[in-house]
Amino acid sequence: MITLKQSKILVTGGAGFIGSNLCETLLQQGHSVVCLDNFSTGKPENITPFLENKNFKLIVGDIRKLEDCQKAVDGVDYVLHEAALGSVPRSIKDPITTNDVNVSGFLNMLVAARDAGVKRFVYAASSSTYGDSASLPKVEDVIGKPLSPYAITKYVNELYADVFSRTYNIECVGLRYFNVFGRRQDPNGAYAAVIPLFVKQLINHESPVINGDGEYSRDFTYIKNVIQMNLLALSTTKTEAVNTVYNTAYGERTTLNQLTGYLKEFLGVYDPEILNVEIKHGPNRLGDIPHSLASIYKAKELLGYDPTYSMREGLKEAVEWYWTNLK
Ligand SMILES: NC(=O)c1ccc[n+]([C@@H]2O[C@H](COP(=O)([O-])OP(=O)(O)OC[C@H]3O[C@@H](n4cnc5c(N)ncnc54)[C@H](O)[C@@H]3O)[C@@H](O)[C@H]2O)c1
Repeated sequence: MITLKQSKILVTGGAGFIGSNLCETLLQQGHSVVCLDNFSTGKPENITPFLENKNFKLIVGDIRKLEDCQKAVDGVDYVLHEAALGSVPRSIKDPITTNDVNVSGFLNMLVAARDAGVKRFVYAASSSTYGDSASLPKVEDVIGKPLSPYAITKYVNELYADVFSRTYNIECVGLRYFNVFGRRQDPNGAYAAVIPLFVKQLINHESPVINGDGEYSRDFTYIKNVIQMNLLALSTTKTEAVNTVYNTAYGERTTLNQLTGYLKEFLGVYDPEILNVEIKHGPNRLGDIPHSLASIYKAKELLGYDPTYSMREGLKEAVEWYWTNLK
């Protein structure tokens, strides 16, 4: 159990997948939680259960507006900055909006947090920062060239956080998330992540389409491990553990072919017909790297990270949640 003194914590993007899971855990631990969200990709139903909790406050606002950020950080001890426009293909289609939200919005939040004197600013970075680097596993200080506008924005976040920590003494910790999955991740829309999309399709007996031959691999990371990393980043008292970035992953890779096999196995328990749904293959996707695998050594050493959920354990829980909530 990670202990953090009762605090007031701002979760930006708190109505989204990762943000709403963070809000839930923080409320369970008795913290005061402020959620700033504009519901562009997040959903009101993700936070509906929290609205009756007296420790939860929702601010509907946009991180592209400095005054919304200032309002949200008022009296806050810590910030967990999750708000951003995710998805590589979205950023390829509309780099300007992605940049506005992910870079200008990020800078607004940093300025607001600095001016409000928050104790620490923990933010969602991304494995996309490894870009075209072919080395495996990915180690924090060896990165390549970004392969998409989204990847640029997430790398710029790290650069800004580093400069702010040096220049203004605000403590920042970046968490490079690797393909996070779990309850409440949106299965709908053009930019849905692969796991919720495939789960929804399999439940509906539709064929998932893998981009490429299915041998590309990812370090799929269950949300509960990501929550642990956020709590560790908030609570660490080691000076050498802040003002840096961490891979946030499980540390194993799974191919897309393995993933669809596991999904069929776990969903087939509820509906054996799913075992007969055909998996199809399409062309490789622009901006995709073949393999992604994190070294989690740094997080283990400096933060004491101990991921409790393997990919399969997490997937089983996530599938159970989707089966109950999508059926
Ligand atoms: N899910 C992953 O696998 C993954 C991987 C790497 C990094 N990340 C990063 O983690 C963070 C959370 O991702 P997620 O998967 O929960 O996505 P999500 O889309 O579910 O959540 C993002 C939230 O931010 C909100 N938001 C977007 N633009 C906003 C704005 N201008 N003002 C206020 N709120 C705004 C959205 O409404 C949404 O609630 C993002 O920063 C994302 O880039 C996610």
